[in-house]
Amino acid sequence: MKTMLNVALPKGRLGENVLRIFEEAGYNCPAIHEPGRKLIFENEETGVRYFWVKPSDVSIYVERGAADIGVAGKDILLEYEPDVYELFDLDIGKCRMAVAACKGFRDNTERTLRVATKFPNIACNYYSKKGRDIDIIKLNGSIEIAPVLKMSDVIVDIVETGTTLLENNLEPIETIIPISARLISNKVSYKFKHKEITALERKIEQLCGETKAERKDS
Ligand code: PRP
Repeated sequence: MKTMLNVALPKGRLGENVLRIFEEAGYNCPAIHEPGRKLIFENEETGVRYFWVKPSDVSIYVERGAADIGVAGKDILLEYEPDVYELFDLDIGKCRMAVAACKGFRDNTERTLRVATKFPNIACNYYSKKGRDIDIIKLNGSIEIAPVLKMSDVIVDIVETGTTLLENNLEPIETIIPISARLISNKVSYKFKHKEITALERKIEQLCGETKAERKDS
C-alpha cells in the first residue's frame, strides 16, 4: 500500500496558490476541486491527503503530527515558534512585518510605547532587542484602527500592498522582517516518511526554482 502524505493547506488565496504548485509537482487530487464544504480530500494514486485549515493553525496540525507537512507564513512560525522543521521558502505570499503609526508620529522614548498587534511575540522580541519599554495590546484583526482611535501609539502588523495603512492615514515606520510562505514538516514524519517528504520537497523546489527563473526573465 502506498504511504500517504498528510498535507495541511492554509485556507484562502495563499492556499489556492500552494495547491496549484503541489498539483503541478505531481500531487494532484481531483476531489478537492469538487464543490462542497468538505475539508479533507485524498488521492491514493498520488499518495496525498489534503486538509484545509485556518492559516494560523497549519503549524499546530504539523507540530502535533496530524499533518506530516504543511505550508505556513513565516509570520506564524516566528509568532508561535512551533517545534517543526522549516524545509523550504516557497517565495510566495510575500509581504513584510512592519511597525506603522499615524502620519507624523514621533516616539517619546521617556514613555512606554503602546503597541497594538496580532503578533505579541514578534513585537516583544523586536522591542526587547532595542531595549524599548512597551505595553502590548493584543488584538485579533483590524489593527490599523488602534492608533487612529489613540488606543495605541504604533501597530506591528503585516503590510502587503500598503493600501490598508494608506487608507487609514497610517505610514510604515520600520520593517521588522520580510515574510513569505514556508514548507514545514513534522519532525517524526520527516524521519519515518523521509523518502516521500524529500521527494516532494525536491519536486516543489525544482518547480519554484523554474518559476523564479521565469519571473527574472520576463
Ligand atoms: C492583513 C493585515 C493588514 C492587511 C495588509 O489583514 O493585518 O490589515 O492585511 O494588507 P495591505 O498592505 O495589502 O493593505 P487581513 O486581511 O489578514 O485581515 P485582519 O485585519 O482581519 O487580520
